[in-house]
Amino acid sequence: MEDVLLVDHPAPGIRLLRLNRPKALNALTMELRRALADAIDQAVDDPDTAVVILAGSAKAFAAGADLKELVDASAVDMVQRATHRLWARIAACPKPIIAAVRGLALGGGCELALHADMIIAGSSAEFAQPEVRVGIMPGAGGTQRLVRAVGKAQAMRIALTGVRVAAPEALMLGLISEVVDDDAVEPRALALAQEIASLPRIAVQKIKEAIVLGADASLEAGLAIERANFQLLFATSDQHEGMQAFLDKRPARFTGA
Ligand code: CAA
Repeated sequence: MEDVLLVDHPAPGIRLLRLNRPKALNALTMELRRALADAIDQAVDDPDTAVVILAGSAKAFAAGADLKELVDASAVDMVQRATHRLWARIAACPKPIIAAVRGLALGGGCELALHADMIIAGSSAEFAQPEVRVGIMPGAGGTQRLVRAVGKAQAMRIALTGVRVAAPEALMLGLISEVVDDDAVEPRALALAQEIASLPRIAVQKIKEAIVLGADASLEAGLAIERANFQLLFATSDQHEGMQAFLDKRPARFTGA
């Protein structure tokens, strides 16, 4: 049997996690969700990984939760599956995650992309939260991350109707970071990942932390998080190297320390 998740190292510092159930449009089974959470933990533990890329296949990033596993599920089954614990491991990743979305990102697939810090989408990619059309609702953070990304009016329109949002509109709404040609999605995600991986790693992680934690805090609390992280970076050798290299008019040699 083929692995439901493929792990690749396309360049130094980069780990690419590819959902690999293309025949089922990468629908998220429990096996695939567990594999994703485990792979994120491994990326976090690996000192050679600076940035994670999440990718799917040409037709679909992911078409949502696997409905075959849900059709006969009871509420008790859903409580016992506790999938929020698997999602939480992705959300807690301190390293930047880039979603490279080709094709459909529906339901849990859209929610998976929303767990990423940046989304690069192909021009024919489409995003939707179609759960309402099968009698449920987004259950992997969709209602909460969507409203934070695009605001109430658009989150309501998207989640209450299940409408497909094409990549150019998703860009306009602030749901995604960039739209490129379908063929350019993964090369662009890799180039972006490499650019970030070449930068001081502790600074990168502290910026992500301040943005993610600050987004749900009061301005005062968010500013305190930013200040603490900012001050901490003066304990890194990359801070001194970065500034000294600027003053010496030479390229910096960052070590990630
Ligand atoms: N679960 C299980 N299997 C799925 C699936 C899903 N979410 N989406 C697609 N598949 C399977 C299909 O059953 C089909 O398999 P078979 O060939 O064995 O029949 C295969 O993938 C190809 O799909 P289609 O033949 O339907 O392809 P299409 O191009 O005609 O349509 C589609 C594509 C519009 C995505 C359609 O498959 C579809 O509507 N899928 C369901 C999308 C959906 O409702 N997602 C939300 C799930 S709920 C959720 O995600 C909850 C949450 O918040 C975590």
